[in-house]
Amino acid sequence: MAEHSASMQTKAIHAGEPDPRPAGAAVAPIFQTSTFAFDGDLEYDEILYARLSNTPTHDALHGKLAALENAPSALATASGMAAISAALFSQLRNGDHLLIPDCLYGGTHMLAYEDLPGLGVEVSVYDPMAPDTWASLLRPNTKVLYAETLTNPLIQVGELDALAAFARDNGLVSMIDNTFASPVNFRPCEHGFHLSLHSATKYLNGHTDLIAGAVIGETALVEEVRHRLNHLGGSLDPHACFLLHRGVKTLPLRMERHNQNAAAMATFLESHPRVEQVNYAGLESSPYHATASRLLDGFSGMLSFEVEGGLEAAERVLERVRIPLIAPSLGGLETLITLPATTSHVGMSAEERDAAGVTDSLIRVSVGVEAIDDLVADFEQALS
Ligand SMILES: Cc1ncc(COP(=O)(O)O)c(C=O)c1O
Repeated sequence: MAEHSASMQTKAIHAGEPDPRPAGAAVAPIFQTSTFAFDGDLEYDEILYARLSNTPTHDALHGKLAALENAPSALATASGMAAISAALFSQLRNGDHLLIPDCLYGGTHMLAYEDLPGLGVEVSVYDPMAPDTWASLLRPNTKVLYAETLTNPLIQVGELDALAAFARDNGLVSMIDNTFASPVNFRPCEHGFHLSLHSATKYLNGHTDLIAGAVIGETALVEEVRHRLNHLGGSLDPHACFLLHRGVKTLPLRMERHNQNAAAMATFLESHPRVEQVNYAGLESSPYHATASRLLDGFSGMLSFEVEGGLEAAERVLERVRIPLIAPSLGGLETLITLPATTSHVGMSAEERDAAGVTDSLIRVSVGVEAIDDLVADFEQALS
């Protein structure tokens, strides 16, 4: 199949499948084996071993993931954090300097602030919306520019094209966490990023039943990540590869519904008298609408909103909704709802949260694929 010319939905189903199909199997079988017999003609480093992410089950998944983002290579990992840490460790050495955005997923934030400095890596923060300020942060030892497509929980969109170009112009390796957008809404390599990183636990798998990650991008760089991952040991088990491969086949179908449902939910919330603010780049009122419309093919299923009445009112909404699960994580079929101030951002002081715009009354929603009328009716009764 011409993997880079077919549409997203066709690639999700057919790209990466073994050719010929073993025994004609319509679904690529799971090679649930840690090792493979060695016929003696191979070099030792050519052997197949599941920790080296090189079994036929891994190959099928890698082919599909790469095709979805129109990139040459992909690597599955044991979690999103395994993808992020292996990617950063593949490029950063003692004495190097890393640029990270001011708003970052908590796990990555802790890796950058707690682990990397101990290994001799300097870390500075930049504002993804302010291109004029980036050059002044460069140092002779700056090696990596790290970004996120949509920020959590305020769903902001930075100047992503300019970021990728800035990294290339200055000899930096650019990496972007594309979890919130998914390949359906944004394909980083098409915009000049070197590496796209995912928590495949979320939209890529979409069924809230496994932990996985992915690194997608230029072959030489993905190979460097694979080399590092082989040492760190964060490879994805063949059975999880199979489940993720199955989940990815329906990604475009699911994302279409996530995008539609979140847009409808954002519109409903924006018109509700008890809602003070809705953060969703698909709304024309969003300060990120123009940038997001230029860069993205869809606005994703993630939104957040502030309810009138502070923390108490927000907690009451969570008590009263019937369909959403109150749970961290995102990107599954079911709607999930959280209060960032008491969960993902509880480690920050109240002042730090205020400065970051994470108020006590902010509610984050991963809008699922349930019937939108049911979801809207449920939020209506919870807010009333
Ligand atoms: C944006 C983002 N990146 C990375 C991760 C880490 O992924 P995982 O939990 O699969 O390690 C998460 C998890 O919530 C996330 O939301």
